[in-house]
Amino acid sequence: MDHVVTCIAPVNIAVIKYWGKKNEELVLPLNDSLSLTLDCEQMHAKTSVIAGPFFENDMVWLNGEIMSVDGNTRLQKCFQLVRDLIKKKKGVNCAEAKWKIRVCSENNFPTAAGLASSAAGYACLIYTLATAFQLTDEDLPSIARQGSGSACRSLNGGFVHWRADVDKCESDSTVVQIASDTHWPEMIVLILVVNDSKKKTSSTIGMKQSVNTSELLKYRVNECVPKRTAQIIQAIKDKHFSKFAEITMRDSNQFHAICLDTYPPCIYLNHISHEIISFIHDYNEAVGQIKVAYTFDAGPNAFVFLEKENLSSFLSELIHVFPPNHFDTYLRGISSIQINSRIMFNFTPKEKGLLKYIMVTKLGNGPKCINSHLLNQDGIPY
Ligand code: PMV
Repeated sequence: MDHVVTCIAPVNIAVIKYWGKKNEELVLPLNDSLSLTLDCEQMHAKTSVIAGPFFENDMVWLNGEIMSVDGNTRLQKCFQLVRDLIKKKKGVNCAEAKWKIRVCSENNFPTAAGLASSAAGYACLIYTLATAFQLTDEDLPSIARQGSGSACRSLNGGFVHWRADVDKCESDSTVVQIASDTHWPEMIVLILVVNDSKKKTSSTIGMKQSVNTSELLKYRVNECVPKRTAQIIQAIKDKHFSKFAEITMRDSNQFHAICLDTYPPCIYLNHISHEIISFIHDYNEAVGQIKVAYTFDAGPNAFVFLEKENLSSFLSELIHVFPPNHFDTYLRGISSIQINSRIMFNFTPKEKGLLKYIMVTKLGNGPKCINSHLLNQDGIPY
């Protein structure tokens, strides 16, 4: 490889949540999940890779700091699987499989905010390595999954379905695109970043505890998710927002009910998350239709879906109810939004600063290669 390869990869937000593995080793999910891939323009992981016979060891820099590759089993597994794939495609004695790899990666959004950064990060790592070694696409989800289960969904744009049923060898599960980002261009995503400093149980540990202790999880996996997945796929195909929104909110609520049913419980939502949930239900009630939906992952931040035509009126009510400490940096992301400052309803404002900021974004079309690199030709970060 005579040059650095750099790619960016998006965050994805699940509307049917993945929670629980049936095979820890292979990272096979207990249930189907379905996500929306966000636009890389506002949020992405960016990764540069160079490899060659002249490097003595694998080295990885993440967000400006060098990482210990030896101490990171997920990273090692990803490298190993990429090398196995190189051998499979190019022959067992192929020199490239022995080359050492230099990786430098960073996110253009705060990692600590719990915004699905590992999904974007691992999807980006695998996509960039695959591009650098000219490997084909069909094998990538199973490698990305080893870094973070949900990373396999960030390899596609638009609406993505990670299926729980396995192949004949019981070693793989498939990821399929239901519709591209251009299918529903009116869809807007807001991320309400909640002021919170409490450290939460990681999703890996949380889902393991749920599998071991939650009785509700079995009901969810067998009875609820199969029906919901079929219904939400239809709602997406029909662009039926209120159906899509109701299933999304019900699935988020059920996922957090499973977390509470886990023993000891995993508590990811805080009082601000609950205020957001109430506000969105009140808003939908006030407008007389489900115009806005929320979903929460393993943290207190809200991911909110709505159609463009409702953005301005919803944002003015949201900012009225959740006033910022500083207005200048409160709204981030898509810069062209006009807020109609007319307040239509009688919601009572809460104290200032419950939200750190609001990111406004839309759907996107998946990872891509770019020309601005994080590493020089010698494999050293700029
Ligand atoms: O990909 P992981 O192992 O970080 O798990 C993701 C779990 C959720 O974000 C809560 C749900 C999902 O499907 O993304």
